[in-house]
Amino acid sequence: MLPATINIFEKAARKAGRILTRDFGEIENLQIQSKNVGDFVTSADLKVEQSILETLKYYYPNVNYLTEESGHIKGDGETIIIDPIDGTSNFIHGIPFVSIVIAKMINNEITDGVVYNPILNEFYWASLGKGSWCNNKRLRVSKRINLTDCLIGTGIPFSNRIYEKFYTELDNVSKNTAGVRRLGSAALDLAYVAAGKIDGFWERDLNLWDICSGVLLVKEAGGKVSKPNGDKWTTKSRDITVSNSLIHNKLLENLTLL
Ligand code: IPD
Ligand code: CA
Ligand code: CA
Repeated sequence: MLPATINIFEKAARKAGRILTRDFGEIENLQIQSKNVGDFVTSADLKVEQSILETLKYYYPNVNYLTEESGHIKGDGETIIIDPIDGTSNFIHGIPFVSIVIAKMINNEITDGVVYNPILNEFYWASLGKGSWCNNKRLRVSKRINLTDCLIGTGIPFSNRIYEKFYTELDNVSKNTAGVRRLGSAALDLAYVAAGKIDGFWERDLNLWDICSGVLLVKEAGGKVSKPNGDKWTTKSRDITVSNSLIHNKLLENLTLL
C-alpha cells in the first residue's frame, strides 16, 4: 500500500499530467516566455503548477509551498516543493523526457518525493525508510564497480550558467567512463540513477525543486549523494553528485573542487 503522502502526491501528479500530455507537441498553441536565455516558461508550466496546487491545498491548506513558478507561499510547519515541468526545453521541442516533481520537506529533510513522466507513464516515488519505486517495481541502483563500464549523466551549462571548469570535468569523465548523457531533466536523471539505468550524475547550479525528489529516490535505492567536492549535500546545496555508491569516490576524482 502506498504511503498516505505519496497517494496524495500521485493524485495531484496524475491529474496535472493529463494537462501536460494534452499540451505536449502542441507548440503552436503554447505561449512561451523567456526568463533568461535558454530558460523558458510556457503556459503549460503555469497550468500544471496551478492544477497541482489546487489538489494539494485541499489536503494541505496550511503548509509552506516552494514552487518554481509561484515562489514561496508561506505557511506553517512542513514545506511542499513543486517543479511543474522539469525539462521545459525538452517539452517545447517535443522530446518526451519531461517530469512533474513534488516533494515534502520536514526540518530540511526530504521525507517523500515523486517524479512523474506522464508521456512515458513512469511514476517514480520514494518515502523515507520505504524504498524507491517505479510504478510497482522496487528500484535498486546499479552494481557496476568499474567507472570505465559506467554511463554518467550531467547537465551541460548554457548561457550565463556556463562555468569554464565544466569542460575539464566533461573531458575527465568522458575519458574515464563508458559515456556521458545529457537527458534534460535533472529530476529524471536522478530517478534513472535510482533505477540503475545510469550509474552516476553530476550537475551544478540547480534549484531544490529540480532534485528534491531525486535525492530521496537515489538514497532509498541504495545510492550515494554528496556535493561534487565530496562534502555533505544539504537542501541548501546547488551542486550535486550522485552515484550507485560503489563508484562515488572514483567519479569525484574526475570533478573539480570548485
Ligand atoms: C532544468 C532541467 C535541466 C537542468 C537545468 C534545469 P527546468 O529544469 O532540470 O535538466 O540542466 O539546470 O533548470 O528549467 O526544465 O525546470
Ligand atoms: Ca527544473
Ligand atoms: Ca520547471
